Amino acid sequence: MFTNVKVSDRIYHLGVNDRRKHLFENLWPLPNGVAYNSYLIVDDKTALMDTIEMGSDRNFISSVERLLGGKELDYLVINHMEPDHSGEIDAVITRWPNVRIVGNAKTFGILKNYYSHNADSIIEVKDGDTLSLGHHCLKFVLTPWVHWPETMMSYDLTESILFSADAFGSFGTLDGGIFDDEINFDYYIDDMRRYYSNIVGKYGGMVQKAYAKLDGVDVKTICPLHGPIWRTDPGRVLALYDKWSRQESDKAVVVIFASMYGNTELMADYIARRICEAGVKDIRVYDASKTHPSYLISEVWRARGLVLGSCAYNGYMHPSMERLTTELTHYGIKDKVLGLFGSYSWNGGGVRNLKCFAETASLPLVAEAVDMPGKPDADKLAACDAMAAAVAAAVLE
Ligand code: FEO
Repeated sequence: MFTNVKVSDRIYHLGVNDRRKHLFENLWPLPNGVAYNSYLIVDDKTALMDTIEMGSDRNFISSVERLLGGKELDYLVINHMEPDHSGEIDAVITRWPNVRIVGNAKTFGILKNYYSHNADSIIEVKDGDTLSLGHHCLKFVLTPWVHWPETMMSYDLTESILFSADAFGSFGTLDGGIFDDEINFDYYIDDMRRYYSNIVGKYGGMVQKAYAKLDGVDVKTICPLHGPIWRTDPGRVLALYDKWSRQESDKAVVVIFASMYGNTELMADYIARRICEAGVKDIRVYDASKTHPSYLISEVWRARGLVLGSCAYNGYMHPSMERLTTELTHYGIKDKVLGLFGSYSWNGGGVRNLKCFAETASLPLVAEAVDMPGKPDADKLAACDAMAAAVAAAVLE
């Protein structure tokens, strides 16, 4: 981007929108793109706060040069080493060979595996260390596993600005609006939860530890590495991340099915209707073979009730359900009201293995799972009533 908007008098946003990439981490669809944010502090000393994905903005180095206005770049602060933010480190070092690289011990353990740099150029900081730039003074807060082990945040003591790395970020490009008071918040919220749940969700406990470290810290502005900058109501994104990292969910139910010939899908619709009749108003039904798991994971994060259904496939679950349940296990989901169902033609396997998932994930079943032979008719479907009623009651509790 050529805009280089000021975050404050001496701090610039140097972000770039990526609308070309189809899959973030070659995994997560980006229908609304993604923004990589970098920041430049032009003070008595100058500091670049992270970079961007390699090649995502061919003008990145010249933008830094222009904003420096003839000054040297004194520091490159690496809050996060994942290549979507460290991709221009080589280019920065090539252009400013005397730049001092600021990070923690774990940062440099990863840095040497990715980029060549002069070992004498590094400044290793510990939790709570500070770096004065003149007017601004950065305090470093180590926040491991939000999202990589080296991740840290930099807090500007002068203006209460938190450079928060991946935390408080979102998918979605910055389409003109860069600050929270310039955007339609509702446009971002689904992408924000999908970003949180898929990228950071596994590390909710570590997010909570970061909150504990920031407790009592006056944060007026949050500058994340993705998505909008939060300067008017940072409490809004702080509250959402707090809720999501504690896996607090809504009184909603998500029904996800994998079906070959429509029998398991019939069960899904029947169960959803029964749950609705029991009083739940927020119900979504998804076909795991059609909807990408990233959206399903985001919905699982949102909803207290989780009802999974699979037909049998080669004596196991349908592969689309197998992928979803594997990912849910990796994410450590908890506190779900879980119901299971499915159908089979001869000796089953779908529901049997969904039960194995529940056991592995330590998620108790709210009612007995329903495994149904062949095509369900009205009488057979009644076997789902007890499970649907139990899901609804537990969700509304
Ligand atoms: Fe946006 Fe963990 O990198």
